[in-house]
Amino acid sequence: MVILEVKNVSYGYSHGTPFEITALNNVSFSVEKGELVGIIGHTGSGKSTLIKMLNSLLKPESGQVLLHGKDINANKASIKEARSKVGLCFQYPEYQLFEETCAKDIAFGPKNMGLSTEEVKERVLKAAEFVGFSKELLNKSPFDLSGGQKRRCAIAGVMAMFPEVLVLDEPTAGLDPIGRFELLRMIENYRKDTGATVMIVSHSMDDIAKTADKILVMNKGTLAMCGSVQEVFSKADTLIEMGLSVPTATSLISRLRAEIPELSPDIFTVEAAAEELSVYFKGRTSK
Ligand SMILES: Nc1ncnc2c1ncn2[C@@H]1O[C@H](COP(=O)(O)OP(=O)(O)O)[C@@H](O)[C@H]1O
Ligand SMILES: [Mg+2]
Repeated sequence: MVILEVKNVSYGYSHGTPFEITALNNVSFSVEKGELVGIIGHTGSGKSTLIKMLNSLLKPESGQVLLHGKDINANKASIKEARSKVGLCFQYPEYQLFEETCAKDIAFGPKNMGLSTEEVKERVLKAAEFVGFSKELLNKSPFDLSGGQKRRCAIAGVMAMFPEVLVLDEPTAGLDPIGRFELLRMIENYRKDTGATVMIVSHSMDDIAKTADKILVMNKGTLAMCGSVQEVFSKADTLIEMGLSVPTATSLISRLRAEIPELSPDIFTVEAAAEELSVYFKGRTSK
């Protein structure tokens, strides 16, 4: 079932000045309920502009964004609905933490939705669980947390609104590999538990290859590709032309294929590469 549809959306900045730029040019795609969509593209390709369209933070200059088949910009009520159903988490969201305790910060969104004190409390605990926050951490000041914990606290604040579509702009930027892995697992937990649709903008091809059902590739304001991990990452040359790359595992196996042509070209994750090599070497030792 399609939950979100972006239809022929265009948008520009700084009209009427020498800095005028078309940030989105006739972009169209649809997202199925429960899908995890990865969005990749070079810096300036329009990724952040695109996701701001999804809850009417920016409005298309032409085209439409449909949520459950309805134009989110039709009227005030539809905008309000989109804001509550599509949760946007900006880049470096930890800079927006401001309350005395993490619990209060996470409660900010649900409180603004007009929920009862009881319901807000429940949601804070549930969101804390999604990001692996103990009660002790909840009572701390966000300013006493580590960088990774601050990030998780900020993301929990969006999760606490239980959005049907959770959209994250570079959630793992600046985290170490373990922090990245853990955060992606937490986002996956949110999706599994709530059945939500998740959209993640990322610079990490490895993260996208590991998690995405569908990948959108933005290039200079246009949607250059839209397809499965296999469909997108098998087009290494096109991606490289756009200043992007393929996952580390894909590039490793591709180099090894020069010597071992039997290896599959369809390897996109470290786990799949390890499996492929293990099968190959076992086959050789048994010969
Ligand atoms: N507030 C703004 N004012 C003017 N130009 C902007 C603004 N935000 C983004 N842009 C320009 O729009 C284009 C797309 O930017 P953005 O959506 O942020 O891309 P990405 O997230 O892929 O890096 C870029 O050329 C960027 O410089
Ligand atoms: Mg951006």
